Amino acid sequence: MSKSLQAIRGMNDTLPEQTPLWRYLESKVSRLLDNYGYKQIRMPIVEFTELFKRSIGEVTDIVEKEMYTFEDRNGDSLTLRPEGTAACVRAVLEHGLTGGGQVQKLWYIGPMFRHERPQKGRYRQFHQIGVEVFNLDGPDIDAELIVLTWRLWGELGIRDAVKLELNSLGTSEARARYRAALVEYLSSRLGELDEDSQRRLKSNPLRVLDTKNADTQAVLVDAPKMVDYLDEESRVHFEGLKARLDTAGIPYTINPKLVRGLDYYSKTVFEWVTDKLGAQGTVCAGGRYDGLVEQMGGKPTSGVGFAMGIERLILMLETLEQIPEEIARQVDVYLCAFGEAAELAALALSERVRDQLPNLRLQINAGAGSFKSQFKKADKSGALYALILGDDELAQQVVGVKPLRGQGEQQTIAWDALAEHLAICIVQG
Ligand code: HAM
Repeated sequence: MSKSLQAIRGMNDTLPEQTPLWRYLESKVSRLLDNYGYKQIRMPIVEFTELFKRSIGEVTDIVEKEMYTFEDRNGDSLTLRPEGTAACVRAVLEHGLTGGGQVQKLWYIGPMFRHERPQKGRYRQFHQIGVEVFNLDGPDIDAELIVLTWRLWGELGIRDAVKLELNSLGTSEARARYRAALVEYLSSRLGELDEDSQRRLKSNPLRVLDTKNADTQAVLVDAPKMVDYLDEESRVHFEGLKARLDTAGIPYTINPKLVRGLDYYSKTVFEWVTDKLGAQGTVCAGGRYDGLVEQMGGKPTSGVGFAMGIERLILMLETLEQIPEEIARQVDVYLCAFGEAAELAALALSERVRDQLPNLRLQINAGAGSFKSQFKKADKSGALYALILGDDELAQQVVGVKPLRGQGEQQTIAWDALAEHLAICIVQG
């Protein structure tokens, strides 16, 4: 017997019972971004592999180990995007959107792909909402990005459960000087480092700061500090950001070990982290990448952005029980019709009501059924009211309106008055 087909490990279906929460989150974020003046951009899911190698960096975990790369029928090497920044930079360059110093404030949403070891909060296909801003190089825009995410956490009811960590990586020259000092120090204590850190010391030394290994962490206590190597420009920028966050009342901690896993960052980096999700605690992360556009072949153009993981935010809403009541109910009114003549009338009546109340969530019973079975379905739908249309109601051009959640007695309403009646009932319900 053939084995039944299954989804690929780490790539999940979002089932009908889960999609209302996803749509709620997506609509909250998109409305917020609209209100702050950000415009949506949509990029392809597949790009030339070269794009990610050049932007994310050849010796990052993502490029070395996690990309879904394949050859297409033309022999081109393509990759399912592991993140959105690279493609966004490619798109703005390709379409000249940043030419002449034009400011762009953009956002995107969609699936990303990384071949990581799946666990709670970490998947191989996951979804990000990302924001990228071009041609604004002051700390005011870094602050705006943080302020708007802070507002989002407030709107979602998860603000108390997330903490902001900040760091500055300085300009690429400052980082190179720091890297040299760090390598010198760590090389002098090579034997005390774990194996992975020894490897990273050669390929990507700043990532040693990220280590979870206790022995290596002990060695890092006396390591040179990035902040002592910051250039003046980056230091002033970082102070400007901190002053704005202080004024806005947004708490943060400086984490000198925050280096991020992608190579394109300079100056500000930040992460919103939580202790509510276990090991995968970063819900939103980003920073400045002032050299990236030039590195990708464009004119010098500053950039800053972030991306949040939708699955992790959904897990947060569930864990903290911040699921709004309005999304638990998907149906306002369920129309039951008994007999063929009543069914015909029900269709016309429901369309009329839909014309009058475009926001009403009206479900009409399909597949006929007895009184009992239709009521059961009405109740199960979660509707506030059942509408009843049988031969008697048909003859009198009325409909029975039966409250299903204990809001009073059943009433008989004329067809002409139904929309108005429902409008009042639903608002009150
Ligand atoms: P990232 O830190 O690689 O940054 O990912 C951003 C967020 O995506 C993470 O904080 C997490 O919430 C979510 N995420 C990442 N990997 C997974 C996974 N395997 N499963 C579930 N969620 C995941 C970037 O991608 C940058 N492009 C962010 C950025 C935009 N920086 C500047 N602009």
